[in-house]
Amino acid sequence: MAVNENLRTPIVCVMGHVDHGKTSLLDNIRGSAVVSGEAGAITQHIGATEVPIESIVDKCGDPGLLNKFIVPGLLFIDTPGHHAFTTLRSRGGALADLAVVIVDINEGFKPQTIESLHILKQHKTPFIVVANKIDKIHGWNPQKGAPFLASYNKQSEHVRASLDTKFYEVIGELYNHGFSSDRYDRVADFQHNIGVIPISAMTGEGIPDLLMVLLGLAQRFLESNLHYDAEGPGVGTVLEVKEERGLGTTIDLILYDGTLRKGDTIVVGSLGEPIQTKVRAVLKPRVLSEINVEDKFKQVSKVTAAIGIKISAPNLDGALSGGSVRVATPETLDTVVEEVRSEVEDV
Ligand code: GTP
Ligand code: MG
Repeated sequence: MAVNENLRTPIVCVMGHVDHGKTSLLDNIRGSAVVSGEAGAITQHIGATEVPIESIVDKCGDPGLLNKFIVPGLLFIDTPGHHAFTTLRSRGGALADLAVVIVDINEGFKPQTIESLHILKQHKTPFIVVANKIDKIHGWNPQKGAPFLASYNKQSEHVRASLDTKFYEVIGELYNHGFSSDRYDRVADFQHNIGVIPISAMTGEGIPDLLMVLLGLAQRFLESNLHYDAEGPGVGTVLEVKEERGLGTTIDLILYDGTLRKGDTIVVGSLGEPIQTKVRAVLKPRVLSEINVEDKFKQVSKVTAAIGIKISAPNLDGALSGGSVRVATPETLDTVVEEVRSEVEDV
């Protein structure tokens, strides 16, 4: 098996309570340090990062895996955990094919952990749970980047017991919220049981397991959803409207279907009449970099889903975060305008 050209990149949203480690987890996966650049280390926007399959396989430490997986990579969406950002969390949840709910194993469930579960339930999004910050358990002996079980087996009996206690509190909380779950290596059927993975975003322990489970889930349960018409008209959701020096008003968006090209006519959701404009530039962040903090965009002539991009075009001032962006042709323009108008009513 090899990467299948007709499968789009699955979108994986990371959700959870403030400070439980969403951005740190993505920093570990992409080998970056976004958290340290954030004001007060609080995420205030939705972000997106494309992680190619080669990088994921590299993290898992088994090059043979490259032949086992056929998705081109994973597009990770970071959301803010602060309570003020419910809309952004919902938007991320709505876009996602899969989600990771992160909970600090030492703190347990908090209001936004529960809110994230509700959002995912509402959108019927399959998800897994990670119990983060295991390295903070008293007496923990860190094993950088190791799979969870390899690390667990290296801990003293006392530390293992301590982890088990905290871990089963997380399982208990999930049960209280209507989800049956177990440690991921004991889950036979991820469709009926939620897998929970102990990890540390700081030391990378458990992250190989998380990536393997995500890829496995993406392939097993989503393959039929991920087939797409690569040449079909691009469809996306606006994450943010931003002024950029030299470019004027731009929009950051997640393209989740089809293709978008420089020069395409697009229709963009707005509080007034949908905006009709022509794409002046398609700007792509570097692979493995966070669109929110990226400063070195590359101009490209076209992009295919799923991907986070910035576009520059005239008249984007009234564009609405959370609204849709659709590519139109002269034949489809009227229908597309109506679609975008009705989608804005749902934002
Ligand atoms: P918001 O975006 O504001 O919702 O927070 P977040 O969930 O993205 O949390 P973030 O990644 O910013 O981490 C919060 C703090 O926890 C930072 O100081 C991190 O360094 C720390 N942290 C995250 N993961 C771990 C971990 O696995 N172990 C330890 N020891 N600290 C961690
Ligand atoms: Mg964050």
